Amino acid sequence: MDLNHKTILVTGAAGFIGANLVLRLLKDTKGTTIVGLDNLNDYYDVAIKEFRLEQIAIEEKKAEEKGNRWVFIKGSIADGSLVQDIFAKYQPRVVVNLAAQAGVRYSISHPEEYMESNMMGFYQILEACRHSYDDGKTGVEHLVYASSSSVYGSNKKVPYSTKDQVDHPVSLYAATKKSNELMAHAYAKLYNIPSTGLRFFTVYGPAGRPDMAYFGFTNKLLKGETIEIFNYGNCKRDFTYIDDIVTGVQLVMQKPPIRENGEDGLPIPPYALYNIGNNQPENLLDFVDILQQELVSAGVLPSDFDFEAHKKLVPMQPGDVPVTYADTTELERDFGFKPQTDLRRGLREFARWYKAFYQN
Ligand SMILES: NC(=O)c1ccc[n+]([C@@H]2O[C@H](COP(=O)([O-])OP(=O)(O)OC[C@H]3O[C@@H](n4cnc5c(N)ncnc54)[C@H](O)[C@@H]3O)[C@@H](O)[C@H]2O)c1
Repeated sequence: MDLNHKTILVTGAAGFIGANLVLRLLKDTKGTTIVGLDNLNDYYDVAIKEFRLEQIAIEEKKAEEKGNRWVFIKGSIADGSLVQDIFAKYQPRVVVNLAAQAGVRYSISHPEEYMESNMMGFYQILEACRHSYDDGKTGVEHLVYASSSSVYGSNKKVPYSTKDQVDHPVSLYAATKKSNELMAHAYAKLYNIPSTGLRFFTVYGPAGRPDMAYFGFTNKLLKGETIEIFNYGNCKRDFTYIDDIVTGVQLVMQKPPIRENGEDGLPIPPYALYNIGNNQPENLLDFVDILQQELVSAGVLPSDFDFEAHKKLVPMQPGDVPVTYADTTELERDFGFKPQTDLRRGLREFARWYKAFYQN
């Protein structure tokens, strides 16, 4: 599917992945209207969301001559009438649902946020997609939505494959993401909505999420506080650089699952699911090592900073998992794409951004 001259709705557009996707779409498409919806909640520092929206405004100016348009709407995906109004007014052909309450640990203290945004919000998006076909309209040609590597819970078998059983989430966050996959499947079957779910694996990079380890560690080290490394450092994460994620999402958007009927004359659900990860898990202690080196070389921390005095190995936290490791063969097979950015380069970009954003 050609994304040029289409209307694309991106929810969570002020978020880390959403804003980077909007920036890329403004750069790479022409004649495109991109509608961004985000409630700008204060789960983390809103200044970072505003910074991302400023970056988008700068890019929009450059993209105007290609006929691209950017519309930002502040509101919640859980607000059914707002979502319906947006669909009625803009009639998006591609919908990328990235709005969600993210984070594993926060789902222990604030479960209601997850029910509201991830369950009710996603339901409203599905309903709006369903009714986009009313009166014989073309409607939504592809719904792409964020799932998460957290659906794999404490699965022992690695790398994690989308064919593995994922019926035992270990956090409410993971349960909502798995539920989204099930809901999307039901709507694909009932209303023939082509949908693709993407299980993201620990996305990081400049202007990323302050609730994630690399960002939180940096804030703490800078304040002279001690960082806690869970499971005594015996954790592995498949860190995926933001630019790779955006490339993956952009490729996936262009290839909706095909609509066809089965022998019973009813639709075979046009439904797909992929892992997007680096396929190369890194040990948490190695990751902290590289992070500290890059923080020093970007000038965020002084070269004589005593890292050993600011590190503490602690037990595993509830809801956390010891390893995430993506099997990405399906993504490679269907899109010829595999994330490429190595951790050092990615953390270097983060450290440089951090220096410019907070210290310059
Ligand atoms: N970053 C990762 O490592 C990662 C990993 C797995 C899955 N994901 C998923 O990818 C998606 C994007 O993640 P992100 O890292 O960009 O997170 P983010 O928190 O930076 O972005 C989410 C955005 O959605 C907005 N939002 C939240 N609830 C909303 C609502 N009800 N209505 C409208 N907007 C709302 C927030 O204000 C935020 O700007 C999320 O669905 C997340 O669960 C992310």
